[in-house]
Amino acid sequence: MRYIVTGGAGFIGSNLAERLTRDDHEVVIIDDLSSGRHENIENLISHPRVTFIKGSVTDLALLTDASAGAAGIFHLAAIASVPRSVEKPLETNEVNVAGTLNVLWAAKECGVPAVVAASTSAIYGDDPASPKHETMAPTPLSPPMRSQNSRASTMERSSLTSTAFGRPSSATSTSLVPGRTRTPSMQR
Ligand SMILES: NC(=O)c1ccc[n+]([C@@H]2O[C@H](COP(=O)([O-])OP(=O)(O)OC[C@H]3O[C@@H](n4cnc5c(N)ncnc54)[C@H](O)[C@@H]3O)[C@@H](O)[C@H]2O)c1
Repeated sequence: MRYIVTGGAGFIGSNLAERLTRDDHEVVIIDDLSSGRHENIENLISHPRVTFIKGSVTDLALLTDASAGAAGIFHLAAIASVPRSVEKPLETNEVNVAGTLNVLWAAKECGVPAVVAASTSAIYGDDPASPKHETMAPTPLSPPMRSQNSRASTMERSSLTSTAFGRPSSATSTSLVPGRTRTPSMQR
């Protein structure tokens, strides 16, 4: 099957793309390399079932072209750093909020059966409750996350899409994922 991985040159995306390839799937990686690294995918892009598109999730036409015939989209592209989202709120909104809507719209337009979008446990801010659970109210700390509720919005849009577009989509809220190629200095 053919899968799209946005943010596929990043930490989680490159590991996911590798796993999908190992499982004999065709993978299209869409990444603008803004925080992702070419070295994360250099072994992958020579693979005959892997296509790398250097581009942005803010480009709806690119997403629509790439999504035709896909069995699913894993949407991991994001400005994931909380400090950067504070420094660049407009860009963060464009990528994390509008970009997510673009992905969902491209999926709808192309009849892609399912979308899995990355959210983050950072939407729960400083709430000391542990473990976190999905019924908790989002209390994001950074202004763009608070004002635009950007990551909460990922989850909300995802569930709205399921309802409005009649397609399954889900958002995963992860926290401090460990693994190969993780950048030690990654700040969330
Ligand atoms: N790693 C963790 O512990 C963790 C925890 C919580 C949530 N998450 C979420 O999981 C997802 C992946 O995280 P990660 O750790 O792999 O981050 P990452 O920064 O390594 O990967 C994100 C990728 O998205 C790409 N990207 C950014 N803007 C883009 C754009 N406009 N168009 C296309 N690509 C773009 C970057 O170049 C990068 O390759 C993110 O949404 C992140 O918020 C990760």
